[in-house]
Amino acid sequence: MSAVKSVKQIDVSGKRVLVRADFNVPLEDGKVSDDSRIVATLPTIRHLLDQGARVILMSHLGRPKGKPDPKYSLRPVAGALADQLGVPVLFLEECMGKSVEDAVGQMKDGQVVLLENVRFHPEEERNGEDMSAALGRLADVYVNDAFGSAHRAHASTAGVTAHVDACVAGLLMEKELTFLGDHTERPDRPFVVILGGAKVSDKISVIDALLDKADTILIGGAMAYTFKLALGGKVGNSLSEPDKVDVALEAIRKAEKRGVTFLLPVDNMIVEAVDFDARTVGESRFTGEGEDIPEGWEGVDIGSRTIELFKREIAGAKTVLWNGPMGIFEIEACSAGTFAIAEAVAANQGCVSIIGGGDSVKAVKKSGYSDKVSFISTGGGASLEFLEGKVLPGVAALDQV
Ligand code: 3PG
Repeated sequence: MSAVKSVKQIDVSGKRVLVRADFNVPLEDGKVSDDSRIVATLPTIRHLLDQGARVILMSHLGRPKGKPDPKYSLRPVAGALADQLGVPVLFLEECMGKSVEDAVGQMKDGQVVLLENVRFHPEEERNGEDMSAALGRLADVYVNDAFGSAHRAHASTAGVTAHVDACVAGLLMEKELTFLGDHTERPDRPFVVILGGAKVSDKISVIDALLDKADTILIGGAMAYTFKLALGGKVGNSLSEPDKVDVALEAIRKAEKRGVTFLLPVDNMIVEAVDFDARTVGESRFTGEGEDIPEGWEGVDIGSRTIELFKREIAGAKTVLWNGPMGIFEIEACSAGTFAIAEAVAANQGCVSIIGGGDSVKAVKKSGYSDKVSFISTGGGASLEFLEGKVLPGVAALDQV
């Protein structure tokens, strides 16, 4: 990975610093219900304030389709952020234009402003030149700390950089690139990757890229049923992608060729019915080792032999990367596999443990082990694209050292 310039490498004192954050946080009853992404951005904001910068924050929230929509306003984030920072955060009802330029012009060193949702304008997602220039007019320095949005080539993540002289990475962005990048490019070995989630088609590019780096890949989640089909097994009513069995077989062959240990579940918890909304399951049992899943039954979690097998691999690892749950962890009856993996990762304090985006992050938080892992990515789609080896436009647009 080429190194991007860090906010720590430039002088920001007395400067207007425009920070692209990823404050795309869940809201419930008009309040922020999970402030992880806000908390993750605090080190950058505090650094800028300590250096006497004028901090102008911008973000998207949700997908408001290019027009203002009060339900996607960033106003609740201003309150949540002020509580965390312990300093006032002035919320502006626009993200660009004369009123914003005037307000920014009156800022003093050490003050913080949060702009309204950049996606209230269609030019944001089109990476429009006028919007990029308008945002650029607000700044002496641009800091991108929005790793979670770095896979988007939008005005606030990419276009704006053509209009600001100094464009650098924030501290969260740097941390994400270090853990998902450096630690997986040059891992301490053995490097064990745990992949789960629903679909092989969502993860195949990640599997492909990680087959070049990992020593061991453990597969769980519904994705494993497509692999089981590919090897001639039967999966009953389990979620699977029969049209992806060739892709799954190819991954198994590639692992063999590269000498990567590629482990699939040897047993499963199976149920006759799942009611996701009611969070209940019908009749349940465990399959025997290597047993097919009978017609009328559905796999919903890895079984206890698989848990033991995967735990042994995790215990011996020096680097662990985990993306995707092992089963329907949202339902307590199907959560044992996912939480056992979280416990096993947390128990190995001698390894670098990285949890990559989306459902596995939710699962680790729910398991109560989140403070025992080395790093939890704030990126969903961005972390997957990064692990696939794609260039993220929001990173590529920053100054290099
Ligand atoms: C995310 O939540 O993954 C990021 O904030 C990006 O959001 P988007 O998928 O709407 O671009």
